[in-house]
Amino acid sequence: FARKLRLLDVTSSTQEAARLLAEEGAAEGTLVIAEEQTGGRGRQGRMWFSPPHKGVWMSLLLRPRRPLAFAPQLTLLTAVAVCRAIRKVSGADAGIKWPNDILIGGKKVCGILIESAGEDEMIKYCIAGIGIDVNLEPEDIPAELRSVATSLKIESGRHIDRAELIAAVMNELEQLYKLHEEEGFAPIRLLWEALSVTLGRRVTVWGGRGDISGVAKSLDESGALVLQDEHGSDVKIFSGDVQLG
Ligand code: BTN
Repeated sequence: FARKLRLLDVTSSTQEAARLLAEEGAAEGTLVIAEEQTGGRGRQGRMWFSPPHKGVWMSLLLRPRRPLAFAPQLTLLTAVAVCRAIRKVSGADAGIKWPNDILIGGKKVCGILIESAGEDEMIKYCIAGIGIDVNLEPEDIPAELRSVATSLKIESGRHIDRAELIAAVMNELEQLYKLHEEEGFAPIRLLWEALSVTLGRRVTVWGGRGDISGVAKSLDESGALVLQDEHGSDVKIFSGDVQLG
């Protein structure tokens, strides 16, 4: 990647800042990092709490020359990269909840939001938004999120250097992106499965088709989650929110 950094003090959302740069023709690898976001966005239209100085709030511009159908694989690839970087830098036992939440001890420590723009069925650009709760103290986390969210500092018991973490995420991403270009999704899928906290568990998915419950069995070759429902049939989930248990 070009690794052109844009460091912002405050912005509404690094996704928006990166989208503007993308529309202006910025190079693949352009990375927008903000100390604070006033309108941080999560998946499914949710907000993303992004207080100053204690988190990593960043968006990476990618320009894969691939069909739009490749976007879900990019989501899973990004989750693997971030999970590996978190494990390396903090030593915490982080895992991935389908498709791309990073959890430690059952609580969320990182969320990923991939937004793509297409043209003639091909990807024009993708913006990989990554939000990591790095040095937040328990009291920094809003009361209503404390049972479901945590930070690397809370889990590892030490201050984590954010620059080191960002560099580790970029290194992992670059390696996996290359691996995907050279060998396709198969090796990424294996890495994802090895880090997954979803597979083998009973899950409920809240998605377009209503609730579906079953046991998470595998990822298919496109990146969809394969569940076995109560009748023993396979059901493929392409998008949605997964609740474990
Ligand atoms: C989720 O789990 O719902 C995804 C959260 C993604 C948050 C990141 S923080 C950097 C980037 N800018 C945003 O507004 N959102 C993403």
